[in-house]
Amino acid sequence: MHDIPPQASNPCSRSLYSVRSALVTAGPTEEPIDAVRFLGNRSSGRLGLAIAEALADRGVPVTLLLGPIRVPVPADPRVTVLRFRTAAELEALLRRHLPQFDLVVMAAAVADYRPKKLAAGKLRRDAESLTIELEGVPDLLATTRELRKPGARVIGFALEPRERLESSAREKLERKDLTGIVANPLETMDADGIDGTLFLRDGRVRTPGGVIPKPDFARWLAAELTSEYSATAH
Ligand code: CTP
Repeated sequence: MHDIPPQASNPCSRSLYSVRSALVTAGPTEEPIDAVRFLGNRSSGRLGLAIAEALADRGVPVTLLLGPIRVPVPADPRVTVLRFRTAAELEALLRRHLPQFDLVVMAAAVADYRPKKLAAGKLRRDAESLTIELEGVPDLLATTRELRKPGARVIGFALEPRERLESSAREKLERKDLTGIVANPLETMDADGIDGTLFLRDGRVRTPGGVIPKPDFARWLAAELTSEYSATAH
């Protein structure tokens, strides 16, 4: 993967499928507390990276919005990589790029809360306890809804305790106005495998069947999302 100007297209990689371009987000966000500390999460970004690669393998030009991940980013000339650190930076990238894409896969683990103020310099250990006030981060999938390309397929992710996987996923599918949502249990985060289920807006449920390695799941998902039938799921 490489960092080149957004939307540069490769004439040789025109898709044979109905999806002509895909925007994938991956990785965690980091919300700074002071000059050296941040609030983050355990997302490794590996699943999003694998989805970007799997879509590129199917001939779809991909733009990947990639958070501050610790694993190396593979060099793949078919994928344009744009980096973000905070949810605000990801929101700015989404606002700029979302309108151009037929398929959006929002695999990034975006913060729900961030520190209200950035402390100057490095906070000192000069008190018994410290309270950091947090403010809510907007739901980026929902608040950028108006910017989507008409007819775009938009896929979210839901990380949930196993016992309420389906009910929460369906609720998020409606609330965020998505084509589909990949629900997976909490153990998926930072793990090698994933036990994912794709719930589509029209009620269909798709699964590759049990826990499989993330690259295999990514290939399965890319095939599902570029198939004709998923176009009718809005
Ligand atoms: N998401 C988003 N903006 C946020 C938080 C999450 O767009 N501020 C997206 C994620 O990228 C994911 C989907 O929403 O595709 C679901 O994320 P999840 O954390 O499971 O759900 P939340 O809406 O944050 O709800 P909750 O944390 O209460 O489960």
